[in-house]
Amino acid sequence: MQRQNGYSVRRVPCHEGHAVRTDQGVSMRFAVIGTGGVGRTLGSRLLTLGHEVALGSRTKDNAAALAWAEQSGPAGRSGTFADAAAFGEIVVNATSGTVSLQALTAAGAGNLAGKVLLDVSNPLVFGPDGAVTLDPVNTDSTGEQIQRAFPEARVVKSLNTCNMEVMVDPARVPGEHNIFVAGDDADAKQQVSQLLHDFGWPQDSVIDMGDITASRGLEMLMPFWLRMMRLLGHADFNYAIRRAQA
Ligand SMILES: NC(=O)c1ccc[n+]([C@@H]2O[C@H](COP(=O)([O-])OP(=O)(O)OC[C@H]3O[C@@H](n4cnc5c(N)ncnc54)[C@H](OP(=O)(O)O)[C@@H]3O)[C@@H](O)[C@H]2O)c1
Repeated sequence: MQRQNGYSVRRVPCHEGHAVRTDQGVSMRFAVIGTGGVGRTLGSRLLTLGHEVALGSRTKDNAAALAWAEQSGPAGRSGTFADAAAFGEIVVNATSGTVSLQALTAAGAGNLAGKVLLDVSNPLVFGPDGAVTLDPVNTDSTGEQIQRAFPEARVVKSLNTCNMEVMVDPARVPGEHNIFVAGDDADAKQQVSQLLHDFGWPQDSVIDMGDITASRGLEMLMPFWLRMMRLLGHADFNYAIRRAQA
């Protein structure tokens, strides 16, 4: 495994020799699985960091993905979930947690094997009365489901606890506040922490919550977060952990 600027590059043969140094560091190939606001926001931010990004959809002709690729320049492209996952050295899951297994199955287990898989999803279920529940919840989480279904992927849960604009620009929220990582693979968490730092998260704002079962609590923060957003009337806020000296 090769380590460059905090990223350890575990290459698959078709990507060998790809990494190039940019002003910002090492350029990597990212797959973003999901064409919603989160996928497009993360994809655009990754491009500004000098990375190449493939945005994946259920179909090749997804209008949002084509439009995003069109305005992204040569480093951005779109395709099916499988096209994107085959392209990416690091994969981001930006689909609803309720359909993530379907999306990642379409992406292909072989295209995920050995790769860091950053999971930003929440399994939100919106009831007819507007009430939000989670499925799975309590004894399971989307992060765990993904790691079980794709044991060769190196799943890291992160960024699901704040708004997409804050994910990629934490300075939108003044003062010190936190972002969390959880996963079974220490090196994968280190790589995601590096990416968070590149997005603007100070090193000491990133809290390692431990193994992938910590996804349960991270996903369970969302109903509280949604309620708070309604209360505040905007999404530029975040969680801050205050602690006494040990
Ligand atoms: N909104 C935020 O600020 C925020 C913050 C933190 C976390 N999140 C989480 O980020 C994730 C993405 O959110 P989003 O609002 O950007 O997107 P989304 O609407 O939750 O998901 C869009 C993606 O899901 C795919 N999809 C829909 N139904 C599917 C199915 N049955 N099988 C496979 N794929 C399916 C769509 O495919 P097509 O491309 O083919 O349409 C699309 O790529 C969610 O889990 C959300 O909870 C959001």
